[in-house]
This record gives sequence, C-alpha cells and structure tokens, in this order.
Amino acid sequence: MKRTLITNIKSLVQVEDTAREAVCGKDMAELKTIENAYLLIEDDKIADFGTMDTLCENADMTIDAKQRFVLPSFCDSHTHLVYAGSREIEYIDKIRGLSYEEIAKRGGGILNSAKRLQEASEDELFEDAMQRLEEIISYGTGAVEIKSGYGLTTEAELKMLRVIRRLKEASPLTIKANFLGAHGVPLEYRGRQGDFVNLVIEEMIPQVAKENLAEFIDVFCDTGFFTVEETARMLEAGTKHGLVPKIHANELDYSGGIEVGVKYGALSVDHLECVGEKEIATLKTSKTMPTILPGAAFFLNMPYSPARKMIEAGLPVAMASDFNPGSSPSGNMQMVLTFACVNYRLTPQEAINATTINSAYAMGISHTHGSIAKGKKANFYITKDIPTIEYIPYYYGTNKVERTFLNGKQV
Ligand code: NIG
Ligand code: FE
Repeated sequence: MKRTLITNIKSLVQVEDTAREAVCGKDMAELKTIENAYLLIEDDKIADFGTMDTLCENADMTIDAKQRFVLPSFCDSHTHLVYAGSREIEYIDKIRGLSYEEIAKRGGGILNSAKRLQEASEDELFEDAMQRLEEIISYGTGAVEIKSGYGLTTEAELKMLRVIRRLKEASPLTIKANFLGAHGVPLEYRGRQGDFVNLVIEEMIPQVAKENLAEFIDVFCDTGFFTVEETARMLEAGTKHGLVPKIHANELDYSGGIEVGVKYGALSVDHLECVGEKEIATLKTSKTMPTILPGAAFFLNMPYSPARKMIEAGLPVAMASDFNPGSSPSGNMQMVLTFACVNYRLTPQEAINATTINSAYAMGISHTHGSIAKGKKANFYITKDIPTIEYIPYYYGTNKVERTFLNGKQV
C-alpha cells in the first residue's frame, strides 16, 4: 500500500465526517473546513485527515502544501466534450442576432456538429477529446459525464460511445457515458420525426445496451426538439435496458421536460432556464437533481434559471459546464463558480457544493466523489497561493489550481 501525506494545508475544504448523498436548501450555504490540516491518502483513497497538531501518521511520501487550500475536485456532470471541429461561425451569427433555434432550423447547431463527427475517425475524436480532458484536469475537474448525440446515426452514435469507452481507459478522470441519440432530428427525418424516435428505440438503445456503452440515457426534451411523449417513449425503452435517465429539460420553454424526467426517475434534469412554482413542486416530490448549466445560459445570452428560488424551496442544485462546441465551448469549472455567484447569486460556498457533492450526485457517484471523506476517491487539488476560497470565483478567468491529484496520484 502506498501512503501519501499532504501537510500544512491552510484549509481543507468540503470535509465530511459522515458522507452525504447531496446537500439541499439552506445546507448548501455550509462548507465544512479544517484549518491548518493534513490529509492522508492510501493508494487511491482518502484514509484520514485532521489538524496538524494531531498528526501522528507517517507515509511513503510527504508533500508540504505550504499553507495552500485543498478542495475536492469538481465533478462535471454534464458535457458533450467528444466532438469534431468547432462552430465559431455560428457564434458570429448569434452576435448578428440569430437565435439558437433559428441556427438549428437552418441545419446549423447540432446538425453541423453531427456532419463533422460522422466524417471524423475514431482516432481523431479520441485525440481531440483527450486534449480537452487534460485541459479540464488542469482546471480542477476530477470526474466528468460525457454524452453522445453528435452522431445521429446508429453507426456514428456507437462510434462516439466507443471513443468515450477508450477515454475511460486512458484517462485518470472518472468518466460516465450518457447515450443522447435524441439530441436533434437529422435532416432526412424532417417531417417524420416519429421514425427517428423509432430508430432510437428499436435500433440504437438495444445496441448501446448490448455493448454496455453507456450508464445513462438523455433526450433533448424541448420545443423544437423532442416532445414529452417522444421523451417518455425513449426513457421507457432506455430504462428497460438498464440505462438511467438524465435529460435536457426546460431550456427553451416550459415544455414539460422536468415532469417527464421526474416521472421516469431521472437522476438529473439539466438546463432549467424555464422553471416556475409548478416545476419546483414537481422536483420537491423527487430524488432528481436539478442541474443548471451557467456557461450555456451565459454564452447564449439566455434568461437565468431561478437557482435561488429552488434553494429557498429546499431543493438541492447542481451545476455543470455543458462543455460543447455550440452553446458552451468551455469546460472550466472555475468559471462555472464565477457564473454561479454573479449570475445566480449563489454564495461561493453554495457554488462549491453545487459543483462538487451535488454534481457528483447528478452523475451517480456521490458515494465516492465530491467531498473530502474517508474512503472516498483521493481526487482533489491544491490551490495556488490565494488568500481565501472566495477568491476562487472572485478572481475570475485565471487558473487558481496549482496541483491536481486523481486516484491518489499527482497528474
Ligand atoms: O446542452 N441543448 C442541447 N444540447 C447542447 C447544445 C449542443 C450544441 O449546440 O451543439 C446543450 O446546450
Ligand atoms: Fe447539454
């Protein structure tokens, strides 16, 4: 067994004596810390922690944190980071006034990425995605969910999911795969969307399950994309094949996405720009994690999800990057913290809970990730020389992570 000891930690943040599934409502404002702390790692797990004056452990390797902060790695529970090419042209269209839906209608958006992905080789997709993974690791991410959904044919969807499987093997990040066959309707299915839904149900889902390529199933349930009825059919089929729903909902409209997600036991419903009393009441009856994607709302200049209302209603809130080439070309979770504070009025403590323990829940890993607790994966980072943890979202745009540890090893 290899024992690594981190000493002289200015403040060990997000410590849990008893590990929790998620943090709800006003508890989100609390973040337990230990000042002047040590952290002991055995192999890939957290073994112990405490104040320096109680330290009586020895180890194979000791790292002096030199009075820097230690935080659990971010869990980014919603990304589309396997993609081909980039879409800055549409970004210009947006600046000139076209909406996300208008761009999509013209064959841009998701269809544009699908065309490029279908042409790209598995190796190219893998190499590009590996680079993105390295980038997010350097910004403090330790676990990431990655969706398919730029394939839109059975063959290309399977290609994407196989790339994700390779990433799982090659990267030190904890990775979960989400099958998002119903991300957009291919042009050849325009006017007969039901046939595409049948293809997802009859061909794609069974194949994905047979090859064990995904843990989750997603649907873009919204006005202009997939209806509540279509979503229900696909989630039903996915669930039968052992895929857990985690869906795109209520981004563009009060479209019933939250209700259908909750009905099918979704682990999370994501985006949530359009949330009122009714949606909050539905969420309150469920174990579904409301997940906000601040980068997408920022980049598309959309109205912001009512995060404060949800927290005040006693709900938990998670936040993730939505890293993708169209609506959120960044996987930087430190920026998500800043957006959380500035645009959603979360305190830095709430924002850290939203991007660690609650987002871990939203990807089904809060028993092993998302906090500093004994027995959990040793995924954490040591900050640069910063004065407070509030400084992380405050001094935005630069990297406050100095060293990252994943599975107990520095990466
Ligand atoms: O989460 N809303 C749907 N899907 C993605 C956008 C994907 C794209 O534009 O390429 C999202 O924002
Ligand atoms: Fe998304």
